[in-house]
Amino acid sequence: MPSAAAPNTGANPVAYDSPSRTLVVQRRDIISQQGDSPVRVVPAWASPPDTSVLVMLGEASSEATASLRVIRHRLEQKRAEGMWTFGVTSARDGEGKSTFATQLALVLSESQRARVLLVESNFHRPSLARILGFRVPDGYGFSSQIVRKMRGSLEPWCVVALGPALHVLAESTAEQGFPETLHSTHFQNAIGFLSRGYDFLIVDGPSVLGSGDANVVENAVDGLIVVLRSNMSKGNDLRDAVKQLGERKTIGVVLWDVELGKKTNGKGR
Ligand SMILES: Nc1ncnc2c1ncn2[C@@H]1O[C@H](COP(=O)(O)OP(=O)(O)O)[C@@H](O)[C@H]1O
Ligand SMILES: [Mg+2]
Repeated sequence: MPSAAAPNTGANPVAYDSPSRTLVVQRRDIISQQGDSPVRVVPAWASPPDTSVLVMLGEASSEATASLRVIRHRLEQKRAEGMWTFGVTSARDGEGKSTFATQLALVLSESQRARVLLVESNFHRPSLARILGFRVPDGYGFSSQIVRKMRGSLEPWCVVALGPALHVLAESTAEQGFPETLHSTHFQNAIGFLSRGYDFLIVDGPSVLGSGDANVVENAVDGLIVVLRSNMSKGNDLRDAVKQLGERKTIGVVLWDVELGKKTNGKGR
């Protein structure tokens, strides 16, 4: 296994070129009285979220936003039942998992109604930093952090704050990642530990078919949401994916990217 880039693990781990955008939240503000190691929260570097990607939330009246808020309502009900870590997956790549997981995290944290951590777990095809328009601090991609934990590091998990209620633990695309770390117990432990500091933890997962990666995410979360993309997803693939996942954790299927005017029970755009 190649070595993880050694980050500056000093008290001030990253240099920020835009102090006015500082959104630092100290760990004591987000995680209270945990006996475990702390979490370090750093501000998003430079660019703001990509407004073209976030257009759904910008248009408050859109059917998509309304549908996302309905999904939020359902998840808030699950939260009351003691479920608050949710994975997003789909049968194959490109069906909108990352886009949906991002939108869901945004709508859950809207108006600071809940503290949300969005976690990337598709280490082979990471995209959250690109979608949200921020840079993962050097050495703080999720899989790099897992590698250091595997070597015995006691450093805190480092997450990026996009706002006071929305934090992200993303994989870097600028640095070498370590996709195999998904299968380590440290991944599952990280989800469990980090989730205690948030009202919701959303995992942007890998696709189901062709590997066991999505099953790892399934094991790590309380509930799984399967995304289907209209005009793209195939019924056979969905059937095979649901078979591979089983029904234990799957809490729903979201029909994503549906043209308005078509009759569906899913979300519209
Ligand atoms: N609801 C949607 N409407 C239009 N385009 C979408 C939608 N969801 C995803 N896309 C586009 O589809 C492509 C793949 O989406 P992505 O979320 O990265 O898929 P996945 O994470 O499943 O691989 C991206 O270019 C994204 O912008
Ligand atoms: Mg993705």
